[in-house]
Amino acid sequence: MLRSFYVNAARYSYSTTPLQRVPKIPDAEISPKKVNLDYDHHLRIREKHLNPAIFTLYKKPVLITQGNKQYLWDHTGKQYIDLTASVSTISVGHCHPKVSKHLKEAVDTLWHCTNMHMHPNMTRLLEKLTSKLPKHLDTIYLVNCGTEAVEMALSLARLYTGAWEYLTLNNAYHGISNANLGMLGMGHWKPQIPNGFGITSVMNPDVYRGMWGGKNCRDGPAQTVRDCNCADGECMASENYLGVLDETFRHSLPPKIAGMMIEPIQGSGGGVHIPRGYMKGAFEMTRKRGGLCISDEVQTGFGRLGSHYWGFEYQGVMPDIVVTAKGMGSGFPIAAVITTKEIASCLARTLHFNTFGGNALSCAVASATLDVIDEENMQAHVHEVGNYLISGLLKLRERYEFLGDVRGIGFMVSIELATDKKSRNTFPADNLAKIMEDLRDMGVLVAKGGMYGALRLKPPFPATKQDMDFVLEVFDIAFNNHLHKKK
Ligand SMILES: Cc1ncc(COP(=O)(O)O)c(C=O)c1O
Repeated sequence: MLRSFYVNAARYSYSTTPLQRVPKIPDAEISPKKVNLDYDHHLRIREKHLNPAIFTLYKKPVLITQGNKQYLWDHTGKQYIDLTASVSTISVGHCHPKVSKHLKEAVDTLWHCTNMHMHPNMTRLLEKLTSKLPKHLDTIYLVNCGTEAVEMALSLARLYTGAWEYLTLNNAYHGISNANLGMLGMGHWKPQIPNGFGITSVMNPDVYRGMWGGKNCRDGPAQTVRDCNCADGECMASENYLGVLDETFRHSLPPKIAGMMIEPIQGSGGGVHIPRGYMKGAFEMTRKRGGLCISDEVQTGFGRLGSHYWGFEYQGVMPDIVVTAKGMGSGFPIAAVITTKEIASCLARTLHFNTFGGNALSCAVASATLDVIDEENMQAHVHEVGNYLISGLLKLRERYEFLGDVRGIGFMVSIELATDKKSRNTFPADNLAKIMEDLRDMGVLVAKGGMYGALRLKPPFPATKQDMDFVLEVFDIAFNNHLHKKK
């Protein structure tokens, strides 16, 4: 641990706080530009004019003025490590120099032309992206965000199969357009508008909170603390959840379905790490009923899982359609639906058009992002540093009764807090908010997610072991502060 990085932090107003000092955040490669901004003005304008549906992570949102690799700075020059990856979008890092260079070149050359013409940035991206996928997934619809890509996959599945019924998992998040609301498995996100025609959500195979789960369910370093009698490589929980899916097929669905969409590890649903064999079994059942298998890789793609470039590879399945976004542009809006020529042709029976899909700037950014992931060997780095982070979190879980679950692989990691390990009762939201504020004060930005308030840790890929030492120490202090907080 980085004892030499300690600075005084007497500003914390806790009654008995044994850890009186907080570590100093590792040095960044740049010094932030000085800015002179009136925070209250920005807050006022936001409150007055920005749509009220956007929630903030803190009572007073942070005013971010700069980003570099894994770090962000606010208007006061305070540095943070961005464990949110700005909602899992920042893959190769904020303002990665190579990506910025390609973007600047494109800015000076060609911003946009209709995709009814050709441009070299799009050609480059199509070649690069298909080279990262199995051969049969050779046809791409370029779109602008994950929601659009998810919705297009739904249309393709219905058009191709001629069937209507579509399956998703409870606790899933696939975006919130009207069509996608039907796939949303978290009730507190659902507005009172008609949605979800022909979409059935099935029981989530959540091995921490669900009906079944044990200490052997996940492929990866972090298991639950629940007991089970499964031998190595076996997972009864997975089989039981597949049994529920089979029952849903038999009782609630017609013999033929359009498809099933699964996130290989759930993102916004609090990082629920679905058990070994579930995705494979679910896709086999889907295929038996004529449906297409869709992997939502919006968060799990492009090496975030470390051990695998794609979440479907990690889960050992072969999808018919892959949906990507977020990390593909490392913060720039671009997304894609990748499928077979035959499936993709369904939309060609009528006219189909997307104004900005394949935009020259976004294609330049995405091509450079894909290059950087390979050139800087980021996937292997994410695997190594992710394991380091997870092993540190597992040690913390042993020390704090309210750390219920640690899960994930690579840089897709979550911690679920609970009142205690045995009951797994929901951790009070106020206390979670306080811990997040405390983490922020010490320079660590994390997101939360899911129905029970899990903390989500999705570092940008350049984050180092030194960063993780800092993060783990800050978490330790925040958790300790929670234990000793004034009642
Ligand atoms: C797994 C998944 N699918 C789809 C989406 C929707 O993507 P977007 O917000 O880019 O529309 C998200 C967004 O968080 C997501 O996490």
